[in-house]
Amino acid sequence: MKIPILRIPYTDQSLREVQSGIAAVLRSGQLAAGKYVGEFEERFAEFCGARYAIATHSGTSALEIILRAIGVQDASVIVPTNTFIATAFAAISAGARVIFADCDPEDLSLDPDDLERKLEPDTRAVMLVHIGGIISGKLEIIRRICARRGIHLVEDCAHAHGSHWNGASAGTLATAGAFSFFPTKVITCGEGGMITTADEGLYREAVILRNHGKNPQRAAAITGFGYNWRMSEFNAVVGVEQMKRAHEIIGERQEAARFYDHHLEKIPGLRALLLPAGVGSTYYKYVAYLDSSIDRNALKRTLRDDFEVQLTGEVYATLCHQEPVWEETCYCGRQRNSRAARACCRTPFRRTSFPGAEQIAAHHVCLPLYPGLSQRELEYVVASLERALAQTACLSKEHAAVSGS
Ligand SMILES: Cc1ncc(COP(=O)(O)O)c(C=O)c1O
Repeated sequence: MKIPILRIPYTDQSLREVQSGIAAVLRSGQLAAGKYVGEFEERFAEFCGARYAIATHSGTSALEIILRAIGVQDASVIVPTNTFIATAFAAISAGARVIFADCDPEDLSLDPDDLERKLEPDTRAVMLVHIGGIISGKLEIIRRICARRGIHLVEDCAHAHGSHWNGASAGTLATAGAFSFFPTKVITCGEGGMITTADEGLYREAVILRNHGKNPQRAAAITGFGYNWRMSEFNAVVGVEQMKRAHEIIGERQEAARFYDHHLEKIPGLRALLLPAGVGSTYYKYVAYLDSSIDRNALKRTLRDDFEVQLTGEVYATLCHQEPVWEETCYCGRQRNSRAARACCRTPFRRTSFPGAEQIAAHHVCLPLYPGLSQRELEYVVASLERALAQTACLSKEHAAVSGS
C-alpha cells in the first residue's frame, strides 16, 4: 500500500462547482476584484468569527500588509526561530529588523521567557506562529507581555485554519492574523492568503495597501505605499468551494488525528505531542517526538523504501536563524558588512543557542494526515511505523555497539 505525502481530494460535485465558477468569472469579464473574492472574504470571516477578512495573493503578503499597517519600519519584530522563513522575510520586507526568539518543545510556539529577554526598546510587533495548527499553551502570558509593553501581537495562522483556543478561532486572538492557502495547507486555493482582524483602522489600511495604495474613501487617491497584493478571482472560486466543505475537511483531519492519538500510545520509540489545555487543532501537522536514540533520517528512509509510507516535512528541521541566507544578509535585510547593517544587526543569531527550538528541530516527525486517508491506510501507517521504528532502533544499537568496540 502506498501512502503519499499529500492528497487533495476533489469529488465530481466539487469539480463541477469550481468549473462553473471559473466559467462564470470568464463570462462576467471581471477577472479581478470581483464577486468571488468578496464571497471568499465573507465566508472566511464567518468561519473564523472575525470582524473583517481581506484576501491577498499569498500568506506572505498577508503578513507583510499587517506589519506595514502596524508600522514596523525601522523598528524590530520578534520572530520565533521555529517557523517558515516567510514569517521573518515579511517583517524585513515591511522595513523591520528581525530578532529571533526560542520556542517551547511542548507546543512548538514562542517561549515567553525568551520573548521577554529578546524585547528591545524599538520592538513594535511579536509574531506568534501556530505551528502545525497548535496554538501556544502560554498565549495568555504572551499577550500580557505584549500588552504591558504596548507591542502588537500578530498571528501567523498559515498552519491553523479553524484551530481554536478556549472557543476563539486562530486569527481572532491578537491584533490580526495572516493565513496561507498554499496547496499543502488545511484550506487551499492554490495560492492565496487572508488577513483577519477586528481593528477597523488596520482593515482600512490593509485594503489600501493590497491595491497599490489606492484609497477607496478618497476616490482611489494613492494614500499608502502599496503593491499589487490582490487575490485573483480564479483562486477565489477555488477558495469559496473549499469554504463550503471546510468543516468536512477539518472533521476528516481531526478523525485521523484521533486515530493516531489512540494507536501511537502503544508504540515504543515515539510520543505524540499533546495539545495544550483549551486548544483545538485542525492538524496541519500531526507531530510526534522520537526517542533521542532514533535516527530520523534512517526512520524516514526505511518507511519510504520498505513500506512506501512518506512522512511529511517537519515543522521545522532547519531553524530560521540557521539558514545560510544570514551569511550575506543582515536581519534587517541589508547586505552584511554594509555600514547601515553594522549599526543595527549586531546579534549573531547563527552562533546563539536556542535550546527549545533545537530540540524541536532535531527530534520530531510529522505523520501523513490529509482528508481521504482511509481507516485501512491509517492502520497501515501505524503498523509500518511500529515495524520501521523497531528496525531503526536495532540498527542504532548495532551501530552503537560497533562504534563502542
Ligand atoms: C508559517 C508560515 N508562514 C507563512 C507562510 C507563507 O505563506 P505563502 O506560501 O502563502 O506565502 C507559510 C507557508 O508555507 C508558512 O508555513
